[in-house]
Amino acid sequence: MICLGVEGTAHTIGVGIVKDSSDKCRVLSNVMKIYQPEHGGIHPREAANHHALYVADLIKEAIEKAGVNSSDIDLVSFSQGPGLGPCLRTAATAARALALTLNKPILGVNHCVAHLEVGRGTIEDCNDPVLLYTSGANTQVIAFAEGRYRVFGETLDIGIGNCLDKFGRTVGIDFPCGPKIEKLAMKGEKYLALPYTIKGMDVAFSGLLTMAEQYYRKGEKIEDICFSMQETAFAALTEVTERAMAHTEKNEVLLGGGVAANKRLRNMVRIMAEERDASFFVPSKDLCIDNGAMIAWLGVLMYKSGIRMKIEETFIDQRFRTDMVDVTWRE
Ligand code: ATP
Ligand code: FE2
Repeated sequence: MICLGVEGTAHTIGVGIVKDSSDKCRVLSNVMKIYQPEHGGIHPREAANHHALYVADLIKEAIEKAGVNSSDIDLVSFSQGPGLGPCLRTAATAARALALTLNKPILGVNHCVAHLEVGRGTIEDCNDPVLLYTSGANTQVIAFAEGRYRVFGETLDIGIGNCLDKFGRTVGIDFPCGPKIEKLAMKGEKYLALPYTIKGMDVAFSGLLTMAEQYYRKGEKIEDICFSMQETAFAALTEVTERAMAHTEKNEVLLGGGVAANKRLRNMVRIMAEERDASFFVPSKDLCIDNGAMIAWLGVLMYKSGIRMKIEETFIDQRFRTDMVDVTWRE
């Protein structure tokens, strides 16, 4: 079956086309445009306008790149939530229009679950991982237990990506700041103590952010601050991920989300996995960040397990939680 997926929860409007072959996911195309705010953080309505401007062309481009005809598409799926209302609505409207035009079924899917499923779908031997999902707005440790994807730990305040981006904005680094902070951190030599906040299985980053900004005002070297932020925040993430693995007795760990591009984060989690004799997986970069292919793949899994939605059921849900999804496609 061939599915076209539309992603639009936040900065990215993406369209991907996937095909299932022996229960694995083959990505036929995966194209996207990322909204870059001129200054400050994301403005939901401006991001939605950006998405509306590009979505039709992206659909055309995805179909061309996949080398299929629009009539070959069996299913349309879209990111139903969680995310920013105006962005979600734009992606959903485009998906509905396409499904109605092609006269094909439509499914709304959970964005966070899609991050996990695309790893299982595209990586050989990745079957039952604990997902460390780290992006701008989201920071969650997710694993399958008793019919659902459960959130074992998450941020109590801001996402790790937002933490890095906010610090970057304070010190005058262009958005997205994560990659530039990573480069600066490589030149750091001195560790500056920062709050290491873990409550139960949850993490928090606003204290770390405030203190990092204070170090900057006091004239500490930017390289040392970036280095210390990464060491502290990523260690906390690795710790809660390890605890979730121990608790669920799983021996696979998967990274997802834009921050998974970070080499230091990858390294810390890889070392933790090796010490536990567990497998470590990261999808390719364009499947780690927000993208249409992961939305398409989750659509395939849901459809094949018998889930159907009427157009009037395809409303968006800004607070669509990971554990609200009934996982009918897994044992
Ligand atoms: P969402 O929260 O809805 O999943 P998002 O729009 O924040 O989505 P992503 O594309 O998953 O989207 O991630 C973007 C984030 O990843 C930004 O905060 C960016 O700074 C961060 N990031 C990207 N590359 C790196 C890196 N090498 N190191 C650290 N952070 C990075
Ligand atoms: Fe995401």
